[in-house]
Amino acid sequence: MSVLIKNGRIVTAVDDYHADIYIENETITVIGEKLEMDADTVLDASGKLVIPGGIDPHTHLDMPFGGAVSADDFETGTRAAAHGGTTTLVDFAIQTKGHSTIEALDTWHAKAEGKTAIDYGFHMIITDMEDTRLHEMRQLADDGVTSYKLFMAYPGVLYVDDGTIYRTMRKAGEDGTVICMHAENGIVIDEIVKEALAKGNTAPKYHSLTRPTRMEAEGVHRAISIAEVAGVPVYIVHLSSSDALEQVVLARDRGVHVFAETCPQYLFLDYSYYEKKGFEGAKYVMTPALREKWNQEELWRGLKMGDLQTIATDHCPFCFKEQKVLGKDDFSKIPNGAPGVENRMSMVYNGGVVAGRISINKFVELTSTAAAKTFGMFPKKGTIAIGTDADIVIFDPNRKETISVNNACTHHMNVDYNTYEGFEVTGFTETVLSRGKVVIENCEYKGTKGDGKFIKRSTYSGH
Ligand code: URP
Ligand code: ZN
Ligand code: ZN
Repeated sequence: MSVLIKNGRIVTAVDDYHADIYIENETITVIGEKLEMDADTVLDASGKLVIPGGIDPHTHLDMPFGGAVSADDFETGTRAAAHGGTTTLVDFAIQTKGHSTIEALDTWHAKAEGKTAIDYGFHMIITDMEDTRLHEMRQLADDGVTSYKLFMAYPGVLYVDDGTIYRTMRKAGEDGTVICMHAENGIVIDEIVKEALAKGNTAPKYHSLTRPTRMEAEGVHRAISIAEVAGVPVYIVHLSSSDALEQVVLARDRGVHVFAETCPQYLFLDYSYYEKKGFEGAKYVMTPALREKWNQEELWRGLKMGDLQTIATDHCPFCFKEQKVLGKDDFSKIPNGAPGVENRMSMVYNGGVVAGRISINKFVELTSTAAAKTFGMFPKKGTIAIGTDADIVIFDPNRKETISVNNACTHHMNVDYNTYEGFEVTGFTETVLSRGKVVIENCEYKGTKGDGKFIKRSTYSGH
């Protein structure tokens, strides 16, 4: 199988030039000007950007959480991701407390295998880590699971104490793997939640009002301090506020090995969404919560200056009518999470590049390259070069769309609302190749269930 992409403007995290790309089977084999080569498929990319497929290092598909299961499984979620120009995602396997992490990995392999439209990997969520289980972490790394997520939030559910955090971090550091941290002081937050409920404050907006940014900043500070002592790179997930970012900046200035991601919801939405009428605010109940609007420009500054390295989605969809409603009379029972995997590339291109906040190379770095480097997939993923996987997006920088659950081009996620309903974007995914196979063409899915493969990721290489 061969594909020739002609006349495109190739943009990577560092390059920007016009050339043709020749793909044989799954790999880019030739890049050059005006290539005259026979190919099974020829795609004309005149006037379009040709960029590395997006990498979303933070999704929750088919995830039991908050009394519900996230509404996208590995089939629907990866297909929606492909529509939006994402060709790789890293999801989370969850260790059941008291059980083996290897068992958890098997469970998540069974959920994903043979179902996905694009390639995928797993981080492992650790919920306990006895000394007797530490050896499993080496096996996970050998099996291509080279990062962990730990939670300082959600006491009684996913929360782990500082001792567990330290123990896990020490071993992860020895193995050359990375710790992803949900950094919020869940113990204090739960006390504030109890106070709110005791006063009869049950509406969705109290989800945000009970989670002060200072408690996120405290978690970030603590996570970084423990990681520094334990000797492991730490990656702060879904960083949402200026207070939290300040802690990352201070640590990086000190030379600590800390990275951080933010998400489109924290760049484009704000606290006012919780004030929507009725129960509408429940659509935006996610953790961390949406913040006051002024935080957004601080996050953009962090992205531009390199203190935040990636934009992931934390895609964790729950249907409004059937699932969010669990918290109708008590905001603390609303399943936490929101959809977004499909809309990330357009939202960031429009709000970043079109709005003049970041360069086009930075766009590629934030949505693809940096995640490939941090999570052991570079250079096979995250760039366009000879020998790399042909995960390629032909992106129309001028196409306008209005994101809506009712727009057949912008919503393929298995959920009854869109977080970015009504947002107008310039810049849209036109064609998507996943390891050389065209899987999306003009809003149509051309792939086959099970095209995607599990990626055995490498250990951290110090990028
Ligand atoms: O609200 C969220 N973010 N749900 C998913 C779980 C998590 O904390 O990432
Ligand atoms: Zn989290
Ligand atoms: Zn998450």
